[in-house]
Amino acid sequence: MSRSSTLFVIILVGVVLFIVSGGMRWLPWFSGMANHHKGMMSRLPGGYAGRTNPYSASTAVHEAGLTLYSANCSGCHGETGRGDGPIGAGLVPPPADLALIMRMPMARDDYLFWRISEGGVSAGSTMPAFKSLLSEDERWALVHYLRGGMK
Ligand code: HEC
Repeated sequence: MSRSSTLFVIILVGVVLFIVSGGMRWLPWFSGMANHHKGMMSRLPGGYAGRTNPYSASTAVHEAGLTLYSANCSGCHGETGRGDGPIGAGLVPPPADLALIMRMPMARDDYLFWRISEGGVSAGSTMPAFKSLLSEDERWALVHYLRGGMK
């Protein structure tokens, strides 16, 4: 093998090891992209893929979602979802800009429900898993709120 192809292989192995080793913590952008990719390809883990919101949007659901959002999410993600809540400052990776996320293609019901339920485990972030903190109904109300309330 020539010297340059040896170097190429070493770099390639390094990149692959970095990706599979969960080195995501240093590269929040990459883990965000990996999660978005999973969301778009419907390869969500644990039976989340394909789930849709069992509730239809209504003023009552939206208001329930707003109350839940203010109590559980706005500290990190900010009142308007811009990722600028007081607790969020200084977190690595930083809280997502939900207003932006909601305009992206992976912002489907199943993706949002998965991220709220399982929190930041998949991204190495400090976002709590809400499946043990909020009921399914409450998490679906939040999905509705994200859809209607983030501007
Ligand atoms: C302790 C701070 C914290 C709290 C509280 C929190 N989050 Fe997060 N959230 C984060 C961080 C940090 C990220 C970005 C890293 C990641 O994807 O986990 C994130 C990411 C997300 C994402 C994925 C965005 C993307 O890029 O696809 C969604 C959706 C989300 N949060 C919704 C919520 C909702 C809804 C709540 C309230 C029920 C909430 N978060 C509470 C810190 C928090």
